Amino acid sequence: MIHKEIREKYISFFTTNPRNHKEIPSSPLIPENDPTVLFITAGMHPLVPYLMGEPHPLGKRLVNIQKSFRTDDIEEVGDHSHFTFFEMLGNWSLGDYFKKEAIEWSFDFLTSKDWLFYDPKKIYVSVFEGDRDAPRDEDSIRVWKEVYKNAGITAEIGDSKKGVSGNSRIFPYPKTKNWWGPAGTTGPCGPDSEMFYDTELPLHKKELYGPVCHINCDCGRYIEVWNDVFMEFNKNADGTYEPLKQKNVDTGMGMERVTALTSWLRKAIPEPDPFLTDLFGKSRYFIQQISNKDYEEPFKKSIRIILDHVRAVTFLIADGAEPGNKERGYVTRRLIRRAIRHGQILGIHVDFMSDTAGQIISNYREIYPEVKNKEEIIKSILSTEEVNFRKLLKKGLDFIEKQASLNGKIAFDLYQSFGFPPELTFEIAKERGIEMDRKTYEEEFAKHQEKSRTATKGVFKGGLQDHSEETKKLHTATHLLQKALVDVLGRHVRQKGSHITAERLRFDFSHDRKMTGEEIEKTEELVNRKIRENLAVTKETVKIEDALKSGALTVPGVKYPEKVTVYKMGNFSREVCGGPHVDFTGSLGKFKIIKEEAAGNLNRRIYAILSKT
Ligand code: SER
Repeated sequence: MIHKEIREKYISFFTTNPRNHKEIPSSPLIPENDPTVLFITAGMHPLVPYLMGEPHPLGKRLVNIQKSFRTDDIEEVGDHSHFTFFEMLGNWSLGDYFKKEAIEWSFDFLTSKDWLFYDPKKIYVSVFEGDRDAPRDEDSIRVWKEVYKNAGITAEIGDSKKGVSGNSRIFPYPKTKNWWGPAGTTGPCGPDSEMFYDTELPLHKKELYGPVCHINCDCGRYIEVWNDVFMEFNKNADGTYEPLKQKNVDTGMGMERVTALTSWLRKAIPEPDPFLTDLFGKSRYFIQQISNKDYEEPFKKSIRIILDHVRAVTFLIADGAEPGNKERGYVTRRLIRRAIRHGQILGIHVDFMSDTAGQIISNYREIYPEVKNKEEIIKSILSTEEVNFRKLLKKGLDFIEKQASLNGKIAFDLYQSFGFPPELTFEIAKERGIEMDRKTYEEEFAKHQEKSRTATKGVFKGGLQDHSEETKKLHTATHLLQKALVDVLGRHVRQKGSHITAERLRFDFSHDRKMTGEEIEKTEELVNRKIRENLAVTKETVKIEDALKSGALTVPGVKYPEKVTVYKMGNFSREVCGGPHVDFTGSLGKFKIIKEEAAGNLNRRIYAILSKT
């Protein structure tokens, strides 16, 4: 299996001498303690506290393969290079090595005989061209020239507007292309340098080909394989950039693309299409078989969408984002529905989601035990969702049959009353040769969206990632709260989720009944007592077994690295955590629970605030 070989090679390249990185496990797709985004969108994301300067228990050089999920590209899924769920191979320097080593090692891994063995002559790179926030990345340009020279290649700076010609290999681009981060609204970021491979293939997408073809033009000839980000800035909430305490490296190589390219270069697949690689195992054949369609136009797109979405929801559900009507759960539900709808386009009228997930799981079971462990749950959730959605489809179709004609208002009513996807109403109309007025639908929808935007705005506001003092205090208060809940309600209390903004904390925990008024008061009183005692907040790095033995609280289901940081607040609370926290609890002010409610059947949710005493 080519993807397994790439995984092993990558980790082995970076963990061995002279690179000496330590491998860390992939974090779950759902971020802990970071309200600025709903999902982990890149490998650097769980490392934000360490990029900001917290010491990492395993040192300054880390490597891993991180599960990631992005919704930005959802509409693009179906082409040869976009995914919602994907994996990133990443290596990090936390204030240790910088541009020279990062670039040299990337090139070495891509081109050396012992590693990927790509032809160095086919590699082109981009760098940051500079603007008022930061200068042109001369250091990277210098290193690249040297690296190419050592490979016997003359590399000159090119102009993307003129395309690729002569010795031009290093192309400067603006921030839109060569600046990465922050992962949320604020946080670590910096200029980057990307590596592309020239496939010399005819263009996949003529419409994306601008006046001239250039390495970043999206036409498909150049495949972007790796991104080296030099995280030396912090973006503030007011949009300004300031130098970080330390200069970091964050690299990310897309598993899907590198597997596709490697497989194609080895002639294992006819074109560098990730959906043809062994990452998808037998799942593609399975879809082809039950739909009786070849992986060809016009069905290729729907097959790809199904494969992407089923793989994504398998991982999302395994990490706790079960389908629902809000936030993460709604993302999962929409992907499930979209996959089913594309199943219909392929002519699949039987339930297929759970079996397709089974195929995906069998391909990833050894790499990500969480999908194997939750196989039955994932399959049963998908079956239920599919049965319900098919009912909904039927309801929608029955409703449509009763209408004299189809129009935008009907599409909106269907959406509003049954949650019937409007694209589907439009599609049905098209199949029936009916012209529908999108305008009426869009007008109705615009009003509706305005409302829902106001409702979700709070989710993205502020948060731990900006490390504001208020957020830090609420984070420290969350630790006191968890321990107080354990003391008041019992040892069954475990953290199920945490979401902290500069205004309030939200804490989900296992407890299957409503807290009584007395329990709430006792909890508040205990937290406030610990604040008044002005406990010192200290931390130590220990082996995870020792942390568990010492009774430090952990989050169930999270895979921790071999060494972890334990934050202690006096002798009261001990918790495995990446920080940051305030130094003494006395600065927190007065703690108050403002709401206690159910969060599913087995968990409760608390909202709490801190106010000046
Ligand atoms: N964070 C960068 C990216 O996602 C590199 O890992 O491309």
